[in-house]
Order: sequence, then structure tokens, then C-alpha cells
Amino acid sequence: MAIERIVDTSVNDDGSEEQIIEVTLRPQNFSEYIGQDRLKKNLQLSIDAAKKRREPIDHVLLYGPPGLGKTTMATVIANEMGTRIRVTAGPAIERAGDLASILTNLQDGDILFIDEIHRLSRTVEEVLYAAMEDYKLDIVIGKGPAARSVRLDLPRFTVIGATTRTGSLAAPLRDRFGHLYRHEFYSPEEIAQIITRSAKILESTIHPEAATLLSGRARLTPRIANRLLKRVRDYADVNGDGIIDTAITTKALELLEIDTMGLDPADRNMLTKMIDTYGMNPVGLTTIAALTGDEATTIEDFYEPFLLQVGFIERTPRGRRVTPRAYKHLGKQLDTTNE
Ligand SMILES: Nc1ncnc2c1ncn2[C@@H]1O[C@H](COP(=O)(O)OP(=O)(O)OP(=O)(O)O)[C@@H](O)[C@H]1O
Ligand SMILES: [Mg+2]
Repeated sequence: MAIERIVDTSVNDDGSEEQIIEVTLRPQNFSEYIGQDRLKKNLQLSIDAAKKRREPIDHVLLYGPPGLGKTTMATVIANEMGTRIRVTAGPAIERAGDLASILTNLQDGDILFIDEIHRLSRTVEEVLYAAMEDYKLDIVIGKGPAARSVRLDLPRFTVIGATTRTGSLAAPLRDRFGHLYRHEFYSPEEIAQIITRSAKILESTIHPEAATLLSGRARLTPRIANRLLKRVRDYADVNGDGIIDTAITTKALELLEIDTMGLDPADRNMLTKMIDTYGMNPVGLTTIAALTGDEATTIEDFYEPFLLQVGFIERTPRGRRVTPRAYKHLGKQLDTTNE
């Protein structure tokens, strides 16, 4: 479905205004990075130790739903280590040769950030984990009977991988990471802090109550918090004096059709269709996709994590099931006759 969703947790990598704002708002170091305290504490320790030993840190795998700050954390680690970061993504490394040229261009201590690492092909994956393990690269030169294999030494580098799904990562690759960290959803208080910080960078005035109101609608996700802030700020500029107070925020949220839980029309549509067609019975992912007209992966990566987090749907062995809590939120009558 080509409808643009304000609560979409993805972002286009296209040099758009949105992408520029996202980069502007990105925290640069641990002290600017709000929340994820357990993760920060552990990483800080590893970084301190590595610096003391003058070694690169062990490979890091960051996983969790979109928009929670994985890419941001990769750049923070590079800044804290004082090293260079080379950024690429799983789908961009098509052949083993592509990876070889990236690896041979690294310098000692460099960080190689591989976004969407679960989308690497199996052959590339194999080359990568060998390189991560002993900093060697085996390449075949030439073709046919004249082909010979050479082993190249690689610099000591650190891979930071990011993925929304660890399940799709081959076990041998996953095992090469010394650190595996899951990004958790943020608390509403942390989201309010992120909104306040972003407003300051964007030179907007936001009342604390408005930041709190907005934080309750942002699906516990920084990317959405920043996006909502930007929309509300536009609304305040057009319909007021630019100051973001609760009245302006409420009106802007109404216009955007974001409800008190941060659900947008597409979420409500999905839940409503599930209820109307299947009640509280489990529904398979592909069936849900057919109901809404989305890709199954879109539902799994973008709609579902938050709906699971707030307990509006639950996973069962036979599919996803809408919960009584969702019924209540949508003002639907629970039908218990065929339970
Ligand atoms: N802890 C944080 N404190 C402040 N702002 C944050 C934090 N985490 C993320 N952000 C903001 O949210 C935006 C999205 O974060 P980021 O791009 O790092 O998410 P991601 O987890 O990499 O998402 P994806 O899975 O889609 O790649 C960033 O531009 C940043 O401004
Ligand atoms: Mg990212």
C-alpha cells in the first residue's frame, strides 16, 4: 500500500528533508544518547577496556525494531572509540568480491557498519564470518585450472551489524559477535526527553506538557517522536505563533488521526479487520497481509512490534490474535459466544 504513514518506522535513504532532519537530530555520543541504559553501560565498559589495551572492540550486533537507534548507536560507538566508520548494508553487498573490496580498503581499528545484516547472501556471509574470526580473507584469483587461492591479511577491524530480526541470521555469523544487544522500546519519559532535546536543536519552543502529550503518542520510538514533533511544529507555525503547547498538539494529532495510544488509521484498520473477520481466533501472517494489502514483512517489521509491546495482539503457535485490550481500545464488543 502506497499510503504514507506518519507512524511508519522506516525512513527513506534518499536525501529528503526527513533524512536530513534525522541526521541532524542524531546523538553523537553516549551523553546525548537518551535511554537504553543497560546497553550503554555495557558498551562503555567494553570501549574503555579496548581503549586501554589499544585494541579495537569486539564485533557488535545490535538488534531490535526499526527506529529505536541502532544506526545512531553505531556512529556513537565510532565517535566514542575515536575511529572511522564505513557504512554499508546487507543488500548492497551482492557478491563476495564486493565484500572483499570493502574489507581490503579498511584500516586498522576501523568500524564496518553493516545495516540489515540479515539480508546478506549466504556466500557473502561465509566470507564475512571467516574475516571476522581471524582477520584473513581467502580469495580465488583467475578461473578454471589456472585459478589459485590466496590468503590476504586484513587489518584489525570491528563489525557492527544491525538487524530488525536476529532469527534470520545464520548461527555461525551470529556466533562471531562478541556483543549482542537488543534495543528495547523507550519509556514515555525517555521519549519526552528526546522530544525536548530535538525541539531545542530545531529551535522550537515546546511546553513540557505538550512534550509529555506527544510522547504518549510516539509508539515508544524515537524516530516517530521526532517525526510527530516535526509535524506538530509545522502545524504550530501555520496555525499559531510557532509555540507548541497542548492545544496546538491536540489539534495537530487529531488532524494526523493519531489516537491516544499512538495508533494510526492503518493500525486500526488492521485490528478492526482481524476482529470483524476472525474475532479472537489466531490469524496467520499471510492472511493478515491479505486483509490489509500490505507485505507480510511490513506487518512483521513495522506494525507488529509495537502492537505486541502494548498487548493489542499476541503471538500464538497458530498465528496472531487480537486481545481483549485491543477490543476495548477500539470500542468493540467482545464476542464470547464462540470462545
Ligand atoms: N537514544 C536516542 N536518543 C535520542 N535520539 C535518538 C535515540 N535513538 C534514536 N534517536 C533518533 O531516532 C532516529 C532514528 O534512529 P536510528 O536511525 O538510529 O534507528 P535504527 O534503529 O537504526 O532504525 P532502522 O532499524 O530503521 O535502521 C535518529 O535519527 C535519532 O535522531
Ligand atoms: Mg538504522
